[in-house]
Order: sequence, then C-alpha cells, then structure tokens
Amino acid sequence: MFNFTYYTPPQVVFGRDAEAHTGALVKSQGCKKVLIHYGGGSVVRSGLLDRIKASLDKEGVAYIELGGVVPNPRLSLVYQGIELARREGVDFILAVGGGSVIDCCKIVSAQAMIDGDVWELENEKREYPTAFIPIGAVVTASGTGSEMNNGAVITHEEKKIKGGMMGAHNDFAMLDPMYTMTVPFRQVISGAFDTLSHAMETYFGKPQENNLSDDISEAVMRSVIANIRLLLTDHESYVARSELMWASAMAENGILKIGKVTDFQCHQMEHQLGAYTDCNHGAGLAVLHPALYRHICEAGAAKFARFARNVWGIEEKATELETARAGVEALADFIKEIGLPASFTEKGIDPNTDFKAVADSTNITAGCCKKLTHEEILEILNECR
Ligand code: NZQ
Ligand code: ZN
Repeated sequence: MFNFTYYTPPQVVFGRDAEAHTGALVKSQGCKKVLIHYGGGSVVRSGLLDRIKASLDKEGVAYIELGGVVPNPRLSLVYQGIELARREGVDFILAVGGGSVIDCCKIVSAQAMIDGDVWELENEKREYPTAFIPIGAVVTASGTGSEMNNGAVITHEEKKIKGGMMGAHNDFAMLDPMYTMTVPFRQVISGAFDTLSHAMETYFGKPQENNLSDDISEAVMRSVIANIRLLLTDHESYVARSELMWASAMAENGILKIGKVTDFQCHQMEHQLGAYTDCNHGAGLAVLHPALYRHICEAGAAKFARFARNVWGIEEKATELETARAGVEALADFIKEIGLPASFTEKGIDPNTDFKAVADSTNITAGCCKKLTHEEILEILNECR
C-alpha cells in the first residue's frame, strides 16, 4: 500500500426531505448570502428549488440564483458565476443538481478568491487554489460522486479540453434518493454505470496485489450491478435508488482509493470524447470500457481474472488470461443487458468526429496496467465505432 492522507468532508445528510436541513447548515457556517446554482430547470419544475428557498428563508439567510449549467459544463458559465458571486458579495455557494452543477460550483468558489485565471493556474501553471468560498450540494442525480471530493470536470470550449480541476470540498451534501425519481431513466442508468466505472478505474490502478481498498471496491461493484438490475425490474425502487446513490458517494469519497494510484484511463478518453462530441458521460464510458479492457487485459491478467471471479462469479478457465478475458466479456454483456450503447454508432456519435484529435488530446495515466500511447488510444477509439 502506498502512503496516504485521508480527509473526510462533507457532512452527509441522507434520506427523505434532506433539503429541509439546508438553511440551518448554511447558517451554522456563519454565512449570510448564498448563490444557488443549478442546471437547465429540472429543480424548478420538481419544486425542489422552492423547498430549498423556504429552508433558507426560515433561517433568515439571503440568496440569489443562477441556472443554466449544461451537462459537460462550460468554463464560460463558470466565469458568469464568479462575476455574480463577486458582485453580490456571496459567502456561500449551493449546488442543486448533478455532477455538472456541483463541479461548476467548486470552481466558482475557487476563482472567486483569486485574482488570476483559475483555468490557467491549474492547467498551465499546475498550481492549485487553497482558499475557497464554502460550498454545499443538494444532489439531484447520482453517479459522479462529485459531492464527496474536490475534483471538477470543466470544458474549455475554445481549447476543446474537458479537463479535471481541483476546487473546494463540499461542507455538506444532501442525498435524498427521491430526487432521482424525476431523472430521465436513461440518465439514471448511465449515472449508475459511471459509479461502476469509478470503482473499476480505482480497482485496476496500482498496486495490483491484495489490499483492503480493492476488497471494498469489489463489494461496491457487486452492489451497483445488483441494484441496476433491481431498478430495471422496478424503475421506482427506493431501495435500489438509495443503494445506488450511496454507492456513487462511496466510489468517490476516497475510501476505495486509499493506498492506491488510480487508473482512470477510460475517464481521460471519455472526457476528450465529451469535449469533441458533447456525449453523455456514463454512456461514453459504457462504449469505451470493453474496448479499452480488451486492449489492456493481458497486461493486467491477474487482476482482470480476480475481477472475473469476484465481481462476475466466473469460474476459473484453463488459463488466467482466459478467465481475465471472460470477465471483460461479462462486463460487455452487462452493458448490453442494461441498455447502454456498445458502439459510437449506437450512441449516435457523428462518424466524422476527429477521433485522432480526441486520441492526441487524451491524457495518458500512470496508474493503468499498460501505459498506452496516443496511437493505441486511436486504435481503441476506432474499435468503438
Ligand atoms: O440541468 P437539469 O435540468 O437539472 O437536467 C439534468 C441534466 O440534463 C438532469 N437532471 C439532474 N437531476 C435531475 C435531472 N432531471 C430531472 N430530475 C432531476 N432530479 O440530468 C442531466 C444530467 O445532469 P449532469 O449533472 O450533467 O449529470 P451527471 O451527474 O452525470 O454529471 C456529469 C458530469 O460530471 C462529470 C462528468 O464528466 C460530467 O461532466 N464528472 C465529475 C466527477 C467529479 N467531479 O468527481 C467525476 C465523474 O467521473 C465525472 O467525470
Ligand atoms: Zn465518471
């Protein structure tokens, strides 16, 4: 196990009507004016935004609001949020939405405290902000686990880079599985697959040998698989939705990553695919994972064989590599079973996309069991067509 430090925010309020605690939690931070940030309007239509405002009103906390965050959130809206936060003197930022909204809030919170440009600071100078306006999240769509960490994924439209950034940790996160009832079902499944991907991308990182983090990862993966299947038989299952919501948080709260260097090569590829095609994150991962894993399976055969046995219940084959490959095919079959796309064509991605540019702009990670080249990434992308 590699050395680690572990830090555990946010405070999580899980369960029905969690948003009723918002006003009291913001007030307990000593904050007086909140920027409520949200997406395309689902939280307005569901009535959640009004309930949050009522909770803030009850505690005498003032607020302003800014909607408009889109999936694959854009840097330009982050700048608008910063301008508004500064002009209005807000001292707390509340995300009400899925990963896209939460990610924007983390970066608005960081940029509002520095003079230079946060994108340049992080992506060009490789320096990271250390002061933030406090933030919290009411999580309306699960899958990314963004509420549990300080990572954010923001798209720089002109540069065509969908890049990982570091912002604030949430002080609190409200997780009510009932919020997810209005999420389009396809998004629920692609979000749940994102969670599975986070666990896999952590599990296949280094070190490969026996460790507690990987044992917990296997439990998270089995739980996600079982609860996606349960949800497919009963779309409204509160049990499945709550398990998936907590699995999403578990996969990204740092516990699975303890003592590991993570892989996340598939995420790097998907992010650039998103920058060029605006494709849905979980669906993009679903197309890419089997192709990537067929490519690297031999290099990480022992771990892929363990994945086959412990996650998919596959019996030992004649060789370790055969067992490993059977695990990858079980994953590919599962993706089809749950209705996620198996190719770019099925996903509706424009065949004229500049896949070479996608490959060339993809970061190569250190944690993958096979260090890929940009040429191999292009090969994998071509196999997905
Ligand atoms: O914008 P609204 O109207 O709210 O609609 C959203 C959006 O269209 C809708 N939605 C969310 N909650 C809803 C709802 N519709 C009805 N009822 C509700 N309760 O769902 C759509 C997708 O929302 P989005 O926030 O984009 O989805 P998700 O949570 O999957 O976030 C995806 C983004 O997170 C990044 C992804 O790359 C992508 O940009 N990620 C962030 C991570 C992190 N910070 O840790 C890790 C992930 O690996 C991921 O990369
Ligand atoms: Zn993800």
